[in-house]
Amino acid sequence: MDHFQLKDGHLHCEDVPMSRIADEVGTPVYVYSKATLERHAAVFRDALAGVGRGEPLLAFAVKANPNLAVLKVLANQGYGADVVSVGELRRALAAGMEPAKIVFSGVGKTAAELRAALEAGIGQFNLESEEEGEELSEIASEMGMRARCALRINPDVDAGTHDKISTGKADNKFGTPIGDAASLYARLATVPGLEMRGLAMHIGSQLSDLAPLEAAFEKLGKLLKTLRESGQSVRQVDLGGGLGVPYKSGEILPSPGEYGAMVRRVTQDWDVSLAFEPGRVIAGNAGVLLTRVVRVKRGVVHPFVVVDAAMNDLARPAMYGAWHDFVAVEPDGEEMTANIVGPICETGDTFATGRQCDRLERGDLAIFRTAGAYGATMASSYNSRGFVAEVLVDGDRFAVVADRIAADSIMNAERVPDWL
Ligand code: LLP
Repeated sequence: MDHFQLKDGHLHCEDVPMSRIADEVGTPVYVYSKATLERHAAVFRDALAGVGRGEPLLAFAVKANPNLAVLKVLANQGYGADVVSVGELRRALAAGMEPAKIVFSGVGKTAAELRAALEAGIGQFNLESEEEGEELSEIASEMGMRARCALRINPDVDAGTHDKISTGKADNKFGTPIGDAASLYARLATVPGLEMRGLAMHIGSQLSDLAPLEAAFEKLGKLLKTLRESGQSVRQVDLGGGLGVPYKSGEILPSPGEYGAMVRRVTQDWDVSLAFEPGRVIAGNAGVLLTRVVRVKRGVVHPFVVVDAAMNDLARPAMYGAWHDFVAVEPDGEEMTANIVGPICETGDTFATGRQCDRLERGDLAIFRTAGAYGATMASSYNSRGFVAEVLVDGDRFAVVADRIAADSIMNAERVPDWL
């Protein structure tokens, strides 16, 4: 359920008409609904209430939507953060997330990033390898600290999602192969600068079936028993993110409630604190990309609806062949079949081909739905288009929460050496 609905024939975000945002801020623009973010945060929290020992840690995957205002909404809901770079760490801290609720994931944390995270006093490093563990131990020892760590396991499970966002197969770059995990955990537990607290896992994103997750969690549960039997302490397990969201109207995906019930069943005798790293399920349907039709161009098979948003603003269709529902802000009840394209000079800049959609004409406004996760954050300035603005709506008010960055500002950061 989201708060992007038609009221009196005009699409609103909460109580704000989309056209008001377009008039005041211009297009393209990302629009986020605070009420939707809060609702998703609450639904996910309720679904996992009481799993594991104590209350679980809910660490929002900042990569899904790193906007400071979005992070602040989630911090106010008691969420922490899953970060993958020092940039994301700084954002989580700036948004007021408690350091103890910050988890640091990723295969390529640099020495400088490890140091910055130790200085910030984050709650947990999810180690991807022996090499990373040794490096972190050295840095922590130098600083007179011990880093709280979990070992990320690669369970070799096919998450059944797009290849580019699958992370738990043996040949993916992530985690430690599950067969090596017990001996590596034991070894890292003896390293002076580390405090091994548990295990972590994340097998992929936009999962539309709970079965691979359950299979992966079962494997993790077996490893946990093996570790305990060999005398290791395992107090914390981070089960990652990955729960998918519907991108097409009418599509049914496993709900947070079903996910929570599965987690409860699988983990009931683990006796650990649990952590989760949800991204898309919190932010996906809480945001849209608002765009204006530049013109409708005649085509051989279908007309081309050329919008002012492009693949540099919303990369998912070009990158993963992803579907985003596309609807008019003021539908007139008529429909058309069209190719929805952006202005960028490559054919990949196509949002949809042969799409049945509301009839649109030059100057009309429309939205790409479900763009609140992996939308603005994946933008580039390709074709010297700058970065679009972001807006947060709360009831009948809204604020620009990220300024539009004009192509000129990017150009102005470039230098032509005087020897040219
Ligand atoms: N934890 C880790 C370690 C991750 O790598 C990710 C996502 C998450 C949590 C959050 O996953 P979520 O709950 O959002 O599925 N750009 C792609 C998605 C990439 C996901 C990368 N990792 C897309 O647009 O579909």
